[in-house]
Amino acid sequence: MERGKRTVTEMAVVGVIASAIGIAAALLINWFPASASKQAGPIDQLWDVLLIVSVPVFVLVTVIVLYSVKLFRVRPGQELMDGPPVHGNTRLEVIWTTIPALIIASLVVYAYLVLHDIEKAPAAANAEMHVKVTGRQFTWYFEYEDTKVAGKPIRSAQLYVPEGKSVKFDVVSEDVLHDFWVPNWRMKIDAVPGITTHYRVTPDKVGSYPVVCAELCGLGHAFMRQTANVLPQAEFDAWLTKQQQAAQKAATS
Ligand code: CUA
Repeated sequence: MERGKRTVTEMAVVGVIASAIGIAAALLINWFPASASKQAGPIDQLWDVLLIVSVPVFVLVTVIVLYSVKLFRVRPGQELMDGPPVHGNTRLEVIWTTIPALIIASLVVYAYLVLHDIEKAPAAANAEMHVKVTGRQFTWYFEYEDTKVAGKPIRSAQLYVPEGKSVKFDVVSEDVLHDFWVPNWRMKIDAVPGITTHYRVTPDKVGSYPVVCAELCGLGHAFMRQTANVLPQAEFDAWLTKQQQAAQKAATS
C-alpha cells in the first residue's frame, strides 16, 4: 500500500475508535436533572440523537486537523518555502457540501417533528388547564385563568399544577426579557415584553422542581427562582379551592 492510502486508512481507524469512545462517553453523561414531564422523554431522545451525529463530525474535523499538523508541518530548512499551489477539486467540494447539508436538513426535520409533536393540544379541549406566567424583575407569579373570583384569576407566588394533566402556559413579561424554565420538564420559553408566548407541559411526576429564569434580566437574575409543585389531582383541587376561598374572603371584606 502506498503511504498516502495507509495514512487515510489509519485516520479512518483512529476516527472510528475516537467516535465510538466519544459517543459512549456522551451518552453516559447525565446531562439533565430527573425528568418530570411527558415532554422530557422525546427531548432527551432528540438530545441523544444530536450527540450521536455530532461526535463523529467533531472527530472527523479534529483528526484531519491533527494529522495535517503532523504530516504537513514545516521542517527545518523549509521556513522560507511556500506550500504547493492547490487548485479546487469540484468532486470533493460537491461531496463536502452535500453530506453536511443532508445531515443538517434531516436533523432540522426530526427536531421540528419532535417539537411539533410534544406541543400538540390534547384531543379534548377541557382536558387542559391554563396558567398565565408573568415575569418581572425579579420574580414570577402565576395566575389560574380557569378559576376566577370576582372576575380575577387566582394568583400565586409559587406554581402548583396537578400530575398527569396538560397545562398550557401563557408567558408574559412586565418589564424586560425573562425566560420561563423548569429544567425537570425540559421546556423553556422567553417572556417577551409586549407579546404572549406559550408552551405546553404534562407533568408526570409528583414533586417540587425549580422554576428558573434563563435570560439575563438584571442584577437579581440569579435569584429569580421559584418552585413548581406537582401535586396529585385531588391535592391540587384542594389547594385551588383553598385559594378560591381566600380570594372570596378578600373580595367580600
Ligand atoms: Cu428574569 Cu433573568
